[in-house]
Amino acid sequence: MAIVGAGALGRVLARRLTQQGYPVTAVLSRNRTSARALAREVGAAVGSDDWNDLPFDVSVVMVCVPDDAIPAVAASLADLPRDWASTVVGHTSGARTAEALAPLARAGAATFSFHPMQTFTSESDPSAFDGIYVGVEGDPDAVPFGAQLASDLGAQAVRVPTEAKTRYHLAAAVASNGLVALMGMVNEIIASAGLDADDGLALMRPLIERTQANVAAHAPEGALTGPAARGDLGTVNAHLEALATHLPHLLPAYAALTNEMVRLAVRSGRLDAGQAEPVLDALHDALPESDSPSAG
Ligand SMILES: NC(=O)c1ccc[n+]([C@@H]2O[C@H](COP(=O)([O-])OP(=O)(O)OC[C@H]3O[C@@H](n4cnc5c(N)ncnc54)[C@H](OP(=O)(O)O)[C@@H]3O)[C@@H](O)[C@H]2O)c1
Repeated sequence: MAIVGAGALGRVLARRLTQQGYPVTAVLSRNRTSARALAREVGAAVGSDDWNDLPFDVSVVMVCVPDDAIPAVAASLADLPRDWASTVVGHTSGARTAEALAPLARAGAATFSFHPMQTFTSESDPSAFDGIYVGVEGDPDAVPFGAQLASDLGAQAVRVPTEAKTRYHLAAAVASNGLVALMGMVNEIIASAGLDADDGLALMRPLIERTQANVAAHAPEGALTGPAARGDLGTVNAHLEALATHLPHLLPAYAALTNEMVRLAVRSGRLDAGQAEPVLDALHDALPESDSPSAG
């Protein structure tokens, strides 16, 4: 196997592959020093910044470069004087499909995308693959290999239809980056209230942890509590007023989130349309016309 891109994921993947008995024989990267350092660490014979050093007997190439660099790397690899027909090539982007490797597919390689649903740094322990999911998509000749690879790394494959890859990545972005933005919003509200807490989020931690456990046990529909789920218009109006006075820039985010809470509450039968409507109207009225969420 060869790893292309000795960055955060390339390093952890190379370590995990070696640990699980997949021999990594070459590491190629933009920077020769980082390629050689990783090659040394995993016992690969080749560590280079020259694509021509890709050994002829490599049958699997995992491209772990930034998303925008994948097409150019694929084009450079496809130009190599070698027969790609017996090679499987994957990339690890969550946002791109196997189409990003099109030059290699045209040269005869079976291409796939292999996206571990986890966040890694170059220091992450290889066990970070344990129990996670890996989104696998691409050429039907390569996808079964990707699924097997995920399983051999200690993860579980999820087959992602090519046309759904962007929505798959959107869900990941909302789950991870959206959650971080939400925690930033919580911190800002606590700071604005002048509460005596060194770490604003520490105040909320038990609540956050219990909520996460409730979502895992009862699904979002069964876990929702609070004023929106009760159709408690007076409290929602008080929140909107506090935001308008102290943190008006957070009004659109609050309105969008509360809108989703009402939709969840209606879906789960907690609220009927008659109870939901006044809350949705209050959210709509609190925003300038262009920021209003729709009930959907
Ligand atoms: N990190 C994560 O948590 C994570 C999780 C899931 C998926 N992914 C995906 O994995 C891929 C890599 O992400 P990453 O976080 O590992 O990025 P990263 O830490 O920036 O590493 C990418 C490496 O690719 C090399 N590189 C950059 N441009 C290149 C080029 N034009 N040609 C050859 N090598 C090049 C660089 O190597 P040099 O050091 O040699 O310059 C860099 O170290 C991305 O598609 C990302 O979406 C990442």
